[in-house]
Amino acid sequence: MEKPMFKTVQEVIAAGEGVSERYLHTTNGNDKGQPLDILVPEMDITAVDLNLLLSSSDDGREELSKLYSVLSKWGVVQQVINHGIAEDFLDEIFELTKQFFALPAEEKQKYAREINTLQGYGSDMILSDNQVLDWIDRLYLTTYPEDQRKLKLWPETPLGFRETLHEFTMKQQLVIKNFFKAMARSLELEDNCFIEMCGEKSVTETRFNVYPPCPRPDKVIGSKPHSDGSAFTLLLPDKNVEGLQFLKDGKWYKAPIVPYAFLINIGDMMEIMSNGIYKSPVHRVVTNREKARISVATFYAPHEDKEIQPVDGIVSETRPRMYKTIKKYVDFYFDYYHQGRRPIEAAYI
Ligand code: OGA
Ligand code: NI
Repeated sequence: MEKPMFKTVQEVIAAGEGVSERYLHTTNGNDKGQPLDILVPEMDITAVDLNLLLSSSDDGREELSKLYSVLSKWGVVQQVINHGIAEDFLDEIFELTKQFFALPAEEKQKYAREINTLQGYGSDMILSDNQVLDWIDRLYLTTYPEDQRKLKLWPETPLGFRETLHEFTMKQQLVIKNFFKAMARSLELEDNCFIEMCGEKSVTETRFNVYPPCPRPDKVIGSKPHSDGSAFTLLLPDKNVEGLQFLKDGKWYKAPIVPYAFLINIGDMMEIMSNGIYKSPVHRVVTNREKARISVATFYAPHEDKEIQPVDGIVSETRPRMYKTIKKYVDFYFDYYHQGRRPIEAAYI
């Protein structure tokens, strides 16, 4: 199979090429020419305790109403404490990610993404000649169900990467199920309504991202504004380096750094299933001159054959149905993404 013909950002840097035009946002592009590295205020998002969310005590009910207010306001919840995944295990994930990206280029290229596919190691997907490129390299792998794994793209070095990713995946499945249940309860719906709509064969994908230091943080973006096509995304942002920002009412806000907390953001599928009560937030990643930033994002998405629509019980006279029934979202997601458009627009009624 053909391998992509373009360099990763790490290879561009190693070749001493500097920042080519392909990465520069021009005046009529992102944010109408405003520098990308302007200071922005921090989001005020509250901590939610995942364990408590599912308890039927008064504290549990209070936690659910916190979840409702933070998700309906931001579409993001951070500090999902008590998620059941130990801190030293999360350190190991970051360490292995760092070690992978520090390997020589030839070694990483063994796992390179093939043209027109998503899985594997590589840079931003290039869909057109005039697309502005993101300052990011990544390793993108389907992790669940297990028979969907393309193991030849799972790194054999650093040692332990495969085993740790498998373990991480299994631990995350529980967090995912619990979070779906908590969201259903927060909307006074049947516990399993979202899980059932997504189906038993729902897909989990993990993306290891590195944003190398960038000489032009004013003009180059790490990840263009987008909302995720998943049902929701479990993100482990870098513990030391900022960069992730969310858009609210036309303004950017930065996500606070909270070591060892997951940040969970709603994706387009959940926006549809919740009939727009929980909106899939637009977010981006900005670059900086000094430090590489690492993040690990896990996307949970319905099986492509499942039909996704607002769930029973959420549509009412006062809140009429706002989204069409959709299927195979991924087929048009990336076209929209690279045009800077929101794919969810295709689902509006
Ligand atoms: C993503 C994403 C944010 C980050 O991978 O979809 O938005 O902090 N990542 O890397
Ligand atoms: Ni995202």
